[in-house]
Parts: sequence; C-alpha cells; structure tokens
Amino acid sequence: MTTAEFDPAQVAEVIGKADIVTPMTIRAAVRVGLFDALADTAGSAGTADTAGTAGTLDLDRLTTAVGGHRRAVRVAADHLVHEGLLAGGEEGYSLTALGSLLTRDRSSLGLRDLLDVDTVVGRNEIALVDFDHTLRTGRPASEARSGATLWQELDDADADADVSSFDWEDPGFAAELILDSPVFATASSVLDLGGNTGSLALALLRRWPHLHASVLDFPVFTDRARARAAEAGLAERLTATPGSFFDPLPTGHDVTLLSAILADWDDDDAVAILRRAAEASDRVVVAEVHLTARGRLASETSVAVRLEASMTRPDRTSADVEALLVRAGLAVETAVTDTPDRSLFVARPLGGAA
Ligand SMILES: C[S@@+](CC[C@H](N)C(=O)[O-])C[C@H]1O[C@@H](n2cnc3c(N)ncnc32)[C@H](O)[C@@H]1O
Repeated sequence: MTTAEFDPAQVAEVIGKADIVTPMTIRAAVRVGLFDALADTAGSAGTADTAGTAGTLDLDRLTTAVGGHRRAVRVAADHLVHEGLLAGGEEGYSLTALGSLLTRDRSSLGLRDLLDVDTVVGRNEIALVDFDHTLRTGRPASEARSGATLWQELDDADADADVSSFDWEDPGFAAELILDSPVFATASSVLDLGGNTGSLALALLRRWPHLHASVLDFPVFTDRARARAAEAGLAERLTATPGSFFDPLPTGHDVTLLSAILADWDDDDAVAILRRAAEASDRVVVAEVHLTARGRLASETSVAVRLEASMTRPDRTSADVEALLVRAGLAVETAVTDTPDRSLFVARPLGGAA
C-alpha cells in the first residue's frame, strides 16, 4: 500500500487528535511564567480596560522575563501565536483573550493548576502519558513510574511543597451532608482520615463550636492544616497528626471521618482502612464522593478516561460502599444515598471484624 492510497485529510485529522505539541507548549509556557510575564507588562503599561491584553514584550525582553533560551522562547511563542493564545511576533508578543485565561490572576478558574505540572492536579493530568498502565491494570496512571499514589509521591518528593491550592474555603461536593450531620451534634471530637490541608475539619469546627478535630494525613498536608488552624484562630481545637490510615490510629475520638478517600483504593485496601477506622472510635462516618462523567468542558467519554486514569475505583456506587462497610465489620446506622455527588454513611463497629 502506498501513501497515495491514504486520504491526507484523514491522516492530518488523526495527527491533529494525537498531537502533543500544543498541550505541552501551553504547559511549558505556564510553568516558566510566560503568560504571567506578558500580563505583568500589561498591568504596568495598560489602563484598567486594557490590562491583561495590551502589554507587549519583544523577544529579548520576553526571554529575559522567563529566564529562557532565546530561540526556544521564539519557537514556542510563535506556536502560541499560531494557536491564538498570543498575538504579534518577535518585535512584540502580547496576550490574546485566550492567553489571558492562563495568567496568575485568573488562577481561580482552575486552568493553571490543571496545566502546571508542579501542582498535584497538573501532575495527575500529565500522568496520562502513562495511561497504558491504567489500560493494563485498571490502576491510576500516576502510579506507573513510582508505584506510589500521587499523594505519597508528593509527600516523598518534596516535603515542603506548596499544597495551598488544596485550601478550599468551601469543601465542595455536597459537603453540607457532612457538615450538617447530626452525628457531630453529640460528638466532642472527630478524627478526619486523609483530611488533607484541613478544609473539611476547619469547616466542621466553624459549624460545631463545641467540636475538636484531628487531621491525619501525610506531613506535607498536616503541616499546612496546622498552619491554617493557627491562621483561623482555631489552633486550640485542631490537632494535625502525620501518619497513614493503614497503621494503628490515634484513639480517643468519638467519630472517625473518611471523606473522598475510598475511590483511591481497591476493595481490600478500602476494607483495611475501614477496619482501622472501626478500631479507632465508636462511630465511623464515610462520606464518599461519587464522580460521574458529566461536564461542560469535555465530552463524557473524555471525562470518563480522566477519572479512570486518576483513581483505582472511580465507579463505586453507594451500595458498593455499604458492602465494604459490612465487610469491614461495621453496622450502618444511617445512610444518605439520594444525593448525586456524595453518599453519607454513619456506622458503628460491631466489635469484631467480619
Ligand atoms: C482525595 S483526597 C481527600 C481529601 C479530603 N478528605 C476531602 O474530603 O477533600 C485523599 C487524601 O488522602 C490522603 N492519603 C492518601 N494516602 C494516605 C494514607 N496512607 N494515610 C493518610 N492519608 C492518606 C491524601 O494525602 C489526600 O489528602
């Protein structure tokens, strides 16, 4: 078969779909601060109306601003012009409306975290280069190289990493199910397993003024949770405990909470975590997030691939979670299973694992 027998348009279409050049150029530009350098120029030279679009930097100034290699910066910037993220050329590059979505001051959009491979979200995204690992094993692509979870990897790689992008004011995913749960009205303390930087624990402390909380997670997160509690004036009521939920847990809490934990683990690991939780207190609250492949920014199939590449068990239903609780020797007392994004189980250890 010769190339003449192929439809060049189809070949170009396949190459376009598989092209990694533009995604990687955008990520590299975010990472070296190229969009920010242009935004800073716009901010200092432009008016309020034009800030973010009017500033220009010629190639020499842009190269200096990003601390880059002149030729490589030109090649990348010219491609970003071709793709509509920048305008101009060597004599003066500037941000377009699209490029300005990637600047520091638009980070609340979440795009930067996704595209900056230094953030956890960005690392998770770039792990898709190892999606074949997921295809073979059903396990997260991020584990392909190190064998560790993304969270563990973050902790191992850089104990003083900036994890402040997890400092959510609003814990999200129908978290009010947890915050309003009557179980906390009578509990005096809660142990939040995998409590990350303390977003949920701090929200619980604000919601229930009598409550004390402990956050257990990797040190990179518990350090941050401790600092946040101090900033919020809640240091007296929040303890941050570095550790693993596969090891024996601190005792003396009325409730052990697992929020958005189990989807990262297969059934055996999930049951092991739940058994630890059952040893630690008289009540176990499991508030699992159920992500579905819907979304406005990408096709359902694309979202489904991303979930599959990110978690070990993205597909558990509330009935599946309940089955794990039973396997771990927990008796369900109350269950909320009619909220799309989250289920909530309050369970009591039976006093002997099944
Ligand atoms: C998906 S996040 C959930 C964070 C938080 N509970 C929430 O509801 O948003 C999973 C958390 O589990 C933590 N984690 C993972 N493995 C852990 C382990 N072996 N021991 C303790 N925490 C762990 C991660 O560091 C991360 O903070």
